[in-house]
Amino acid sequence: AEFTVLCCGGGNAAQVATGLFAVRYKTIAVSFFADEAAKWKDALGDAEFELTTPGGGVMKSKPKDITNDPSVAKDADLILLVVPSFAHGEYFEKFAPYMKPGTIVATMPARSGGDILFASKLGDKAKDMIFCGFETLPWACRFTEWGKKATILGTKNNILAAVTPVSATKKALAKLQGLLGVNPQVLESPNNLGISLRNPGMIVHPGVMYGRWSPESWDGNPKDEAPLFYQGVDDFTETVLTGMTDEVQLLCRKMEEVAQGLDMKDACTLKQWYLDCYDGQMKDTSSLKACMNTNAAYDGLKHPCKEVDGKFMPDLKYRYLAEDIPTGLCFAKGLAEIVGLETPTIDKVMKWGQECIGLEIMVDGKMTGKDLAKTRAPQGMGITTLEASWSNLVAVLGH
Ligand code: NAI
Repeated sequence: AEFTVLCCGGGNAAQVATGLFAVRYKTIAVSFFADEAAKWKDALGDAEFELTTPGGGVMKSKPKDITNDPSVAKDADLILLVVPSFAHGEYFEKFAPYMKPGTIVATMPARSGGDILFASKLGDKAKDMIFCGFETLPWACRFTEWGKKATILGTKNNILAAVTPVSATKKALAKLQGLLGVNPQVLESPNNLGISLRNPGMIVHPGVMYGRWSPESWDGNPKDEAPLFYQGVDDFTETVLTGMTDEVQLLCRKMEEVAQGLDMKDACTLKQWYLDCYDGQMKDTSSLKACMNTNAAYDGLKHPCKEVDGKFMPDLKYRYLAEDIPTGLCFAKGLAEIVGLETPTIDKVMKWGQECIGLEIMVDGKMTGKDLAKTRAPQGMGITTLEASWSNLVAVLGH
């Protein structure tokens, strides 16, 4: 049968990916969100989807179908999730009964703990499947006419991806490279734990929000303007970010101790991540703060705010907290707790952040809150001991 790709989601990234893949492959767009699939199918009608690439060229293509029917997974060779990570679980769960052995399921960006979530949603079937986590999205992209036209603003030169089980890496990454085209170059990362603990969003987003809006630094009064997000990182915010990234580094060293042979080389510090990803775009790389303040790619980006009577209040329910705490920071904090590592800076950010997003995750510094199952904390996916996590890790790492 013809190689079949499911491209999941309906936002900027999913529309771009669908447009790109449908040029060369039988591609079915799937969205489970509200009536998005029907709306998209309607919007496109008989027309072709138009994708504008950075050079100005226009690619036209037509997905085979746009649907909310999970049974299309029965013919899928490759399923790509290009939706915010809080939606991943729903796709895994709905596709699970239909997926055939050997299906490659990739998430971009994976955020943290995606492999463990996949294993927990797929149950016995997980061992016959191939999971791939990408560190980020390859494109900066926006739809220009919803459902009909989109633009790729920029494409990354390379992008890291890890495969579970590790033995399927070559095969899966070759397929995914074929799908993405020449750019970005997909680089092999040793394991999904490295992708999980590399996740820059879990540090940057909650950390910068805390640095600006927690009671430690803000009096609660509206601001005249929405502050700059990256260029506005000050000394205090830098100490928060450094505290968090250093705690994740301690966790990496601890995991290497626990799991002999575990390669955590890609789970680098936040500063190293900037050097890896934005080389040449930062005027000053002498410190983490300088990297963030002088990165041209971040020029003018502001804090998420809501306007109230001409002044600005922070949007503390924005995805910088609502996505990056549950599917990022919770994974790191939960794993740290399992291996007995203290994380005072992460704890302080979590304690403040969970109240902002109305979740009870951590209670008295422990991962025991009633909303734990809504997060990627290992504890929320049924893993609470080192033995359980270790046997699971062995399985997911393919050791
Ligand atoms: P988006 O905000 O356009 O995605 C919206 C889509 O998410 C909706 O169309 C729907 O399919 C799904 N969705 C929203 N709320 C939902 C809910 N309650 N339940 C289930 N599904 C829901 O996001 P975009 O731009 O497509 O990005 C996707 C991911 O890629 C995000 O994690 C984003 O942070 C990341 N990313 C995006 C970049 C870009 O240039 N667009 C650049 C780098 C990363």
